[in-house]
Amino acid sequence: MHATRKILLAAVLVVAGSSLACGADAPHAHDAHDASGTADRAVGAQLPPRLRGMLIQEMMAVLDASKQILEALVRGQDDLVARNAQGIHDSFILEQRMSDADRRALHDSLPHAFIERDHAFHELSGRLAEAARAGHQPEQRRIFTEMLNACVACHAAHATDRFPNLAVGAH
Ligand code: HEC
Repeated sequence: MHATRKILLAAVLVVAGSSLACGADAPHAHDAHDASGTADRAVGAQLPPRLRGMLIQEMMAVLDASKQILEALVRGQDDLVARNAQGIHDSFILEQRMSDADRRALHDSLPHAFIERDHAFHELSGRLAEAARAGHQPEQRRIFTEMLNACVACHAAHATDRFPNLAVGAH
């Protein structure tokens, strides 16, 4: 039982470490890639600058909340996990804080697969908040691991210009 918990925690930390480390990657000059087949791979570059700015803002908030959740998980602070997970869920910038025209522009610019991934990710954060409010710690770790996998999966599918290292090792 204890061994299983340790392995789970190690997995969370490894996934967290690699996910956070990739955020620090600077794009390199040599990855001037061929544009064919990249329509789904560089979502940010296809957005109007203002909407791209909102997406980046959301990502920075999500990153910050994820770090807080990681720390709260290893300390067993259910209330902090709940607050930060709920924060990610509610800060769904792609759905809120946006005029109808913005929302239409955004949905027109984004591939359907991206929107589905975004919905699934925010649903996971809602489930994490629920598990934390219920004080169910193994379930919190399981869902948080799923969320980290969702970060990497979406970056590998839709942000390979920002995270070229994920494109190479993704599949
Ligand atoms: C539904 C897709 C999706 C999910 C899920 C997602 N991201 Fe992102 N993220 C993106 C895209 C697209 C970009 C690149 C935006 C751009 O090109 O400007 C990005 C960029 C980022 C950046 C770089 C922001 C910057 O410009 O400095 C960070 C950090 C980041 N994401 C963190 C995370 C973390 C942490 C998670 C999970 C807890 C996550 N993301 C989940 C799509 C996603």
